[in-house]
Order: sequence, then C-alpha cells, then structure tokens
Amino acid sequence: MSATVSVAARRTVKADVIVVFVSQNERQFKLAEKALLSEIPHLHPVFASNDFSGKALQTTLAYCGSSMAAPRIILVGLGDTSTNKAETIRRAAAAGAKRAAASGCSHVAFDCASVSGIDAQSQAQAITEGALLSQYAFDKYKTIKKNGNGGKVSKITVITDKANQKSVNKGVYAGLAIVEGVTLARDLANAPNNEIYPETLAKKVQEVGRRVGFKTTVLDKKKIEELKMGGLLGVNQGSVRPPVFIVMEYMKGPKSEKPLVLVGKGITFDTGGISLKPAAGMSDMKSDMHGAASVIGTMCTIAKLGLKRNVVALVPSTENMPSGTALVPGDILTFMNGKTAEIDNTDAEGRLILADALCYADRYNPSAVIDLATLTGAVVIALGTLTTGMMGTDTKTKSRLKAAAEKTNEYVCELPLYEEYEELISSEYADIKNSGGREAGSITAALFLKHFVTYPWVHLDIAGTGIKSKASHYTPRGGSGVGVRLLTEMLRNW
Ligand code: BES
Ligand code: MN
Ligand code: ZN
Repeated sequence: MSATVSVAARRTVKADVIVVFVSQNERQFKLAEKALLSEIPHLHPVFASNDFSGKALQTTLAYCGSSMAAPRIILVGLGDTSTNKAETIRRAAAAGAKRAAASGCSHVAFDCASVSGIDAQSQAQAITEGALLSQYAFDKYKTIKKNGNGGKVSKITVITDKANQKSVNKGVYAGLAIVEGVTLARDLANAPNNEIYPETLAKKVQEVGRRVGFKTTVLDKKKIEELKMGGLLGVNQGSVRPPVFIVMEYMKGPKSEKPLVLVGKGITFDTGGISLKPAAGMSDMKSDMHGAASVIGTMCTIAKLGLKRNVVALVPSTENMPSGTALVPGDILTFMNGKTAEIDNTDAEGRLILADALCYADRYNPSAVIDLATLTGAVVIALGTLTTGMMGTDTKTKSRLKAAAEKTNEYVCELPLYEEYEELISSEYADIKNSGGREAGSITAALFLKHFVTYPWVHLDIAGTGIKSKASHYTPRGGSGVGVRLLTEMLRNW
C-alpha cells in the first residue's frame, strides 16, 4: 500500500483511473460539469445522459480516450451538502476505490481540488483513510488469490496544486500512519487463535515496537505470579498456553508530563470457560482481544506520527478455556491490589484480567487511563455496532473522546455509573462478584473495573463496534480496528 501526492492538472496524471468528487448541489454540480467538459470532451455523453446526479455515493465510470493521460475516470457523488465533513470524503473515497477495484484498477488518483467546506489537509487524510481502508480483507489464508476484476487498489495518488501541496502532503502522511495502525489492529483481531495467542501476540508487539519506535516489555507467567495478578492467573488456569502481560512505552513528551495509559483486553479466545458459550457464532470470540489490538494499533500510529506525548499501553493476555483445571463458579480470586472477587460466571473473564492491569497502571502515576475491551454482549444490545459504550470518572477525557468521536465517526455514548447499581455485584463471600446478571450488564461490568481504579479513568466497551457482523463503507465484516482513529485523533488534539 502506498500513497503519493502529485501537483499537476488531473488530465495529465498517469494512473489506472482518476476519481473526481462531484457535489449534488446545483450550482456546484454545474461548475464541476463545465470544468470537466472543457478538459475532457469524452465526458459529453455522460452529462448528456443525466445518469449522474452527484447523489451521495453514486459512481459513474467513463473511458476518456485521448483527452486524459489516465484511461478511465470515475465520478463519485458527494450528495447535497454545503459543507463536506471528513466522513463524507472517507465514504466517497471508499466508493471510488471499490468501483476502481471492481474494474481491475490498482493505481487510483484522487482529484482533491473541487471539494468545498473542508481544508486540504483533512481532505487528503480522509481520502487516504477511506480509499485504503476500504480495500482491507483478511485473506492471507486464501491460497487462491483473486486477480483481474475484483483485485485491489494498492496505490493512490492525491492530486493537488502548488498552494495546497504542503497541507496535502501532511494529510496523506497522517492518513498512511492511521491506515497502518488500523490495518494492524484488524489483522490482529481477525487472526485465529491458532495464530495469535498470548505468546505470539507478545512477539508481534515486540516486532512492531522495534520497527516503529516504542519500547516493549513482556512479563511472563513467573513475573505475573510475582506481581500476584490473581485475575489474569485465574482466567488462565484452564489453558495450556501461558499468559503474558505486555507493556508498551512511548515517551516522546516532556519529562514532566504524566503519561496517558491505555489498557486493552487481550483474551485471544473466549470460550466462556466452564460457563461455556453456545457453539453458534463462537468463532467471533477469536476477536475478544480487539481492545488489545486497538491499543497496539494506536501505539503503532502515534509512533509513526512522531507525536510529542507520553503514552503507555498495557495488555493482559490469556485464553479463556474450560478444562479440569479451569476456574469454576464460586471460586474466589485475589487481585494485585489485594481485593477479592467471587466468580459468578466464568464467561465474565474480561473484567478479571483488566482488574490486574488497572492496578498495574497505578505505578505510572497516569494523567488518565483509558481501557478498551470487548467486554459485554449487553452493550451490543444497547448501542448496536455503530456506537461504543463509554463510562468512567474523568469528565475531561470523556469530552475529549466525544470530540474525537465526532471527527472520526467512531461514535461514543456515555452510560451512567450510578452507585445504586453496585448492589448488583455485591457478593456474600468476597468484596464483589464478577457478574451482575443481565440487567445493566455493561454498567455493572464497568462498576467492577472501578474498584481497581486510583486515577482519572474512562472505559470504552467496544464489543459491538469492534466485531462487526456486516460491512459498511470502509469497514469490512469482522475486526473493525475501532479505537485507533479515535484515540489518535484525541492524542493529536490533546
Ligand atoms: N467477550 C464477551 C463479550 C462479547 C459478547 C463480546 C459478544 C463481543 C460480542 C465477554 O467476555 C462476555 O462473555 N461477557 C458476558 C458477561 C456476562 C457473563 C456477565 C456477556 O456479555 O454475556
Ligand atoms: Mn466472556
Ligand atoms: Zn470475553
């Protein structure tokens, strides 16, 4: 995958196809039509037919013969919007790239000039994100590759002018760093458990850290025992594969700046344990480490961007397996901070491993901690696959996340943590129990985590947004990479 910037007239750019965005707004449509017809006479029949109106995501492909250096042009409609948001451009770029791929094109040039209401840098970033992310497929295990029609776009060029060249360069560079992080997160989330399990996840993180520039420390089972991480060890005790605790450090901010700590749930497969899940759809639980994938992808992107910030990411990782040595309901675990929890349901395992990670985060004296986890089925019922459930104690970080969510279209919606819900997770024998039943399931999961928090904190439940049951625009089915764009946007504007 690559992206370049070209300062040239679009009709002179060499690529398999030129994509031009056209607004449905009457005045803007007429202006675009006039400019296109004067440059590319071959487009007369397209406009004469009135087939193309500029309606959102409408695409029309035409062959341009001698009037252009590229053999094809694709017009993509933007809809009737006076101001174009980044999301409009991401979707339009994705529609253009998909149409191009379906015609066998691998190099696509996007014309950046004619779009109103968005600055050149944001537009270039949105084009890069939308076009390249739309081409993602987890197909590395397909030994018979598709070719010709139905191939993929692997190279994009953004066409601009001298005045905007600098901004467009910046936008494309940021877009590429983001696409790399999101793609890494998707690959990790989609990889099956026989490829990505705790030790191979740790290896992968070490490789990425070495390549892009963050420090990785992997704590093994012995170290985890020394730290008395009873939650991580408890969930792991049914598995033949040992747990890991992965620490990533990216300290490029001022020495005096307290770090932001990210925590990602790293269950590489969730069978439910002894409280076994139903068989149907269980394979989705290979993505139960999407929280981990999101924070690893984010570390990759911010290192590529060279952000001047201090960020630490923590990943507790294990499988959740049923076996003769597995946790059973009624067991009581003691966490790193000495608190105890009774196991009511072994399928509520995410909060057990996160509890220890949240205790560990305390040693960084963090400015804030944000955890990401595919934590509850309840959040999928409440908010679907479009919106992440947000809970926590840190008002400032919550509003930063809300602002970043609007820009990236990775929506968040806050659920309350009223104290009265606590009684649902009270235990007869231990400090708390690990399940509060079906009612308010996402809230009681977050309240469980809150018992281990000693700093400003936000929890993001990405069970719905991380594991998509259907494709949309530039996000395919399966692991979505959610969180990478959200956290990166928030960190860039901190
Ligand atoms: N990993 C699951 C949550 C999940 C469900 C993620 C569906 C993605 C899609 C989690 O470990 C889990 O099993 N949660 C239980 C908790 C319950 C036992 C209190 C749930 O949501 O049913
Ligand atoms: Mn579970
Ligand atoms: Zn789980």
